[in-house]
Amino acid sequence: MSTSNSDTTASVSRTGSDPAATTSTIPTLPGAWPLLGHLKDIRYRLPEWAHENHKKHGPVFRADLGFGANCIFIEGVDSLSILNNRTTSSADIAARSEPMLGSHAMIVLDGKAHRKSRGAISKSFSPGGLDRAEVLRTTEGVFASHVSDWAQPGELNLHIATRDAVFDAICRVAGVKPGELSQWRSRFRMLLLGSMGTPEDIPGSPAWIAKLGRKWLDKRLLAEIHRIRAEGDESCLLGSMVHARDEDGAHATDEALLDNLRLLVLAGHETTASTIGWAMLYLAREPKLWQRLVDEAASSPDADITSFDGLSAFPFAEALFRESVRFYPPITMETRTVEQELSFHGVTIAPGEVVASAIANVSRDPSLFDNAEVFDPERWLGEGRRTPSKAETCQFGGGPHFCLGYHLAVAEATQCLVNVARQFTAKGLSLESTGPLPKLRYYPLLALPGNAKLRVVG
Ligand code: HEM
Repeated sequence: MSTSNSDTTASVSRTGSDPAATTSTIPTLPGAWPLLGHLKDIRYRLPEWAHENHKKHGPVFRADLGFGANCIFIEGVDSLSILNNRTTSSADIAARSEPMLGSHAMIVLDGKAHRKSRGAISKSFSPGGLDRAEVLRTTEGVFASHVSDWAQPGELNLHIATRDAVFDAICRVAGVKPGELSQWRSRFRMLLLGSMGTPEDIPGSPAWIAKLGRKWLDKRLLAEIHRIRAEGDESCLLGSMVHARDEDGAHATDEALLDNLRLLVLAGHETTASTIGWAMLYLAREPKLWQRLVDEAASSPDADITSFDGLSAFPFAEALFRESVRFYPPITMETRTVEQELSFHGVTIAPGEVVASAIANVSRDPSLFDNAEVFDPERWLGEGRRTPSKAETCQFGGGPHFCLGYHLAVAEATQCLVNVARQFTAKGLSLESTGPLPKLRYYPLLALPGNAKLRVVG
C-alpha cells in the first residue's frame, strides 16, 4: 500500500478573484457522435479514454454525455472533493432519477433536507443498528439458501445468481414475504427502465412501463408501512425507519419512506451483487485465492455469521470484497452540480456546470495503491488495514451522501463468500474458470456482464 494514501483533502476552492482560466476556456473534447456524444467511449473504455484526454487536453475537460447533456471531467484523486457538497449539490442526480426515486429520496436532497431524511435512518444502517434489528440474521438465511442452490456441479451464471441472491436479501430486509420475491424482482426491473429518460405518457415506452412498476411496488410498500405504524413494530429495519424521528423530532412522511425504500433496493442490490460476482470470478481463476478463503472458513467453522462480531473472524473474505469493489467499482463516475464557483488545477468552473469524478480511475490511482493494476486482496490485510481511508473507499462515494449501505454491503458480501467456502467444501466442490474475464462496460454501471460464468466442479 502506498504511503501517500491519506484522506482526500478538499481541493475545491472558491476563487473568482484571479482565475487562471475560466469555464469558457475548458477544452471541449472533439469526436462527439450526434445524439450519443462521447457515451460510447465512456461506456466501453472510460479509464483509458479519460487518461488519453488528460494527456492531450489537461486534467479538466468537457465531454458530451449524449441527449443534450454534458459535463466537466476532473481527473485525479483531488476530484473526490466535489463529493463534499460544500460548493456543489446533487441537483443533476435529482433530474435524472426522478422517475425511479421521486423527489424525496435522500440521494436527491441537499443540506438540511438531506440531513433530516438520512439522519432519521442512518443509525439503523450502522453496525450496531443492523445488529439490533437482526438484519444480518435475515440476510444470512437468504445467502445460505441461494448458495445451497449454486452448490452443484455445472455452469453457474454469476450475473443471475448473485443478482437474485442480493435482491432477495434486501427485499427480505425490507419486509417482503419469501413467496412474493419473484413478483418484486420483475416490478423492480420495470422500474429500472425509468433511468432511460424517455417520456412517460407514451404507452409501452420504457418510462411508462417504469411508472407501472413503481405503482405496483408503492402500493405494497405503503401497506407494509401502514401495518408497521399501526402495530408499533420497531424490531425490523422497516420498523426502525417508520418510527425514527428526524432532527426536528418529526417522523418521515409516507412519500419520503417510499422514495427511500425504493432507493435502498435500487442502490443496494446490483452494486453488491456485481462486486460479489467479480470476487467469485477471481476465486475461480486463481486457486490460491480460493484456497485462502477455504482455509479461513475452515479455521472458524463455528463462527456465527449473523453479527458483525462473528463476521470479524473472516478478514480475508472481507478483503476479497474490498479488492473486488476497488477493481470493479459498480459506480464508475460520480457527478455534482456546481453551486459556487470552484477551481481545479488552475481552471475555474462556473455555477450551473455539472462536474464529474471518474471513480474507476481514482480507484486504481497509483498514488493511493501500490501495484494498483494488480488484483490483490492482501493489500487490505495486516496491521492498520481494517479502516481504509476516505479516498480508498471512494467506490462508495464521499461527503454527506457517502453510501448509507456501506456496512451492510461489506457484511452481506462477507456472509455470501463464507457461505460459498463452507457449503462448497462440505460437498467436495470447488470453482473453475470457463474462459477469459468478460468485457467491461463502465456506464451507467460497471455491472457484472450477463455472460459472466464459472464452473462448479466436484
Ligand atoms: C458494493 C456495494 C455498494 C456500492 C459500491 C455503493 C456505492 C454507492 C455510491 C457511489 C453512492 C453515492 C455516494 C455519493 O454520491 O457520494 C451510494 C449511495 C447510497 N447507497 Fe450505496 N453502494 C453499495 C451498496 C449499498 C447497499 C447494500 C445499500 C443499502 C441497502 C446502499 C444504499 C445507498 C444509499 C441509501 C445511498 C444514498 C445515500 C445518501 O444520499 O445519503 N448502497 N452508494
